[in-house]
Formats: sequence, structure tokens, C-alpha cells
Amino acid sequence: MRVLAIETSCDETAIALLSVTGGGAEGRAASRPPRIEVRESLVTSQIPIHREFGGVVPNLAKREHLRNLPLLYARLAQRLRAKGSRLAFDMITVTVGPGLEPALWTGINFAEALAARTGTPLVGANHLEGHLYSVLLPSPGAARATRAAAGGAKARKTAARRGGTPPQIAFPAIALIVSGGHTTLLRMDSLVDWKLLGETRDDAAGEAFDKAARLIGLPYPGGPEIERLARTGDPHMAEFPRPMIHEKNYDFSFSGLKTAVLYYVRDNPSAVATDAGRAGLAASFQAAAIDVLVTKTVRAARECGARAVVLCGGVASNKALRAALARGVRKAMGRECAFLVPSSSYNLDNAAMIGLAGYMAHLRGAHYPLRADGSLEV
Ligand code: KG4
Ligand code: ZN
Repeated sequence: MRVLAIETSCDETAIALLSVTGGGAEGRAASRPPRIEVRESLVTSQIPIHREFGGVVPNLAKREHLRNLPLLYARLAQRLRAKGSRLAFDMITVTVGPGLEPALWTGINFAEALAARTGTPLVGANHLEGHLYSVLLPSPGAARATRAAAGGAKARKTAARRGGTPPQIAFPAIALIVSGGHTTLLRMDSLVDWKLLGETRDDAAGEAFDKAARLIGLPYPGGPEIERLARTGDPHMAEFPRPMIHEKNYDFSFSGLKTAVLYYVRDNPSAVATDAGRAGLAASFQAAAIDVLVTKTVRAARECGARAVVLCGGVASNKALRAALARGVRKAMGRECAFLVPSSSYNLDNAAMIGLAGYMAHLRGAHYPLRADGSLEV
């Protein structure tokens, strides 16, 4: 099935075309991922526009999505033409939430008009499910690698490593979704069957990175800036709290950590005046945030006997978090438990993940109303 996907939940306008086949929603089949080829995945980021405001401005995001959507759609058609192909699809899927409602509506309205014009079925998709399934997306170039691999066993192995074969998630699995709006821990019993274990009670992990960055004087979005500075900083410069780390639940809280950064900067103004001070603050903040995320996720994996741990969402781009969680899982669970992260192209918001989420929702018969729902849950 050819799936056209549209994503406009925050500050990225994205369109993708996927070929997806197989997978299943019943019994054992639900453990088998579908075969996926990402034909095109186009993303336009609005970060430079929102940067001067220190965060995303919903009405500016809406204006930019309205401008970008027809341009991206035309570019998609053009890219396919250049490959001797044409833009055709059997299903359209669009993010209906969670996210900024004025931004979500632009995608929904565009998708509805396109569905009416082309007579194509339209399916709503959940952005968080998109992040969850993004781990199954083959890395760009995988299709080429798979075709090239038709020749021999060695080449086939190489292709699989590059992502030509979607990873099999062994169940039960624990998934940590960490993005700008969410910190969500799930137990997955199949690809279409999961239970919420815990979530943040206040700020999301990405939001905490963004707010701490602002306090340190770094531009939006703060996550990548903190990660970059933290590489050279002393993580023990400030001993920040690890909120809720020992509580016997799977919830998170990051607002106390952000407040601790605020007080530190207020009481030690010289710290943000030097490169070493800013780097130390970034490293100390990042160490505290990672400590909490890793400790709680590893505990969940241990308690449910997980055979896989999945890390996804924008904050999953953070290499220090990836490395610490991989180490934590290996130490607690041994090699029997796989650690999976999306290909680096699909950590941040994109439409390829929405194409897959829409396809999976369609398979399992979930129907999301075609209405923006800012606080839609998994
Ligand atoms: O998933 P995403 O692209 O959008 C939402 O669904 O929210 O995530 C964006 C968030 C932002 O808060 C951003 O600062 C954070 O992901 N982020 C990072 C990194 N790259 C992006 N956080 C920590 N380290 C990074 N390298
Ligand atoms: Zn996202």
C-alpha cells in the first residue's frame, strides 16, 4: 500500500511517501513488522523563525505550515518525477494530535482537501505512535542496499545492518518516548498492544532541556545545544537533584530540576559568564536528566523481564542518553535484551513515522477522529 503522510504538529512541516505491506494486528502476526520502503521523506524546519522568540509560537507555526505544505507537496511530486515515477497513493494519513492545535489543523485541512480531490481514504495518526514506530523505519538508502544485496550472503548481511530489514522487536518490550511535549514509558506486548507505565507529571524531558538551555543563555531548541556543550563540561560542577528517581513508580518530574538550574544561575551568576561555566552547567543538567531516564527505564525493563528496550522521540537524538541507556540495559539485562533506537533521520519530527503510524492504526482498526486533539494520548 502506498501511503502519503502529513505532519504539522509542531514546528516541522513534513510530507512523506511510503510503500508499506504486511504486518498484522492479530495474535502472533502483531509481532511481525510490515515491510516498509520510505520513497521520500521531506521535512522543512521552522526553527530559525521561532528561535528569536525562544520557543515555538503557535500562530507563526500555523502560518508557516500553510505556506510550506503546498510547496512540499509540489517538491514531492517533482522528486518522484525526477526518478521516473509519479505521485500516487492508496491512503493519506495525517497527524491529529498531540501537538499545537492551530498547527495540527493546517495538516488536517490540507489532507482533507487532498483526499476529496483524489478520492483517497484519509486516516488520522497519533504523533506519539509515530515516534514509537519510528524505530522500525529503515534508514535512508536501505532500499538501495537491499536491492544491491540480492547477490550474496555477505552483501545481504551488510544491507540488514544498514536497515534493509526492519528490526524485529522481541516482546515484552519497554519503550521510552522522550520528546518536547512528552516523557512516556510503555510496556509493549506486541506492535499493537501496549500499556502506559508512567509519564511526566510536569515538564517533558525535551522541554526541560529547552528551559535549562534558556537559563544557561543558549538558543532554542536547547537539547542539541546542551548536548554539544556538555561534551566538554564537568558533570559534577553542580550536583543537581534527580527528581523521583527512587520512587516506586514509573512517573517522571523535571520541573524541580529546571528550578535547581534557575537557583544555581541566580546564586552563581559568574557560572554563565564563561565557556567552562556554561559547559559545566550543561553537563551537570544533562547528567541529572539522563540518570533519571535511565534508572527508571532500566528498572521497568528488569521488572517486566523485557526482551527489548526502545528509545525514541526527539531527545533520543542525544548520544549521551543513547549510550547511557544502552549501557544500563546491557548491565541489567545482558545481551538477551536488545536496545533499539530509530535511524538518526527519524528521531526528530518527520512524516515517514506518521505514514507508518497511520498504516498500523488502520491495521488494528483504530479510528482517530479527523479533528485536532492537542492532548491526545497513546
Ligand atoms: O520529537 P520532537 O522533534 O518534537 C516533539 O514531538 O516535541 O522533539 C523535540 C525536542 C526538543 O525539546 C529538543 O530540544 C529535543 O527534542 N532534542 C534534544 C536533542 N535534539 C532534540 N534533546 C536532547 N539532546 C538532543 N540532541
Ligand atoms: Zn515529536
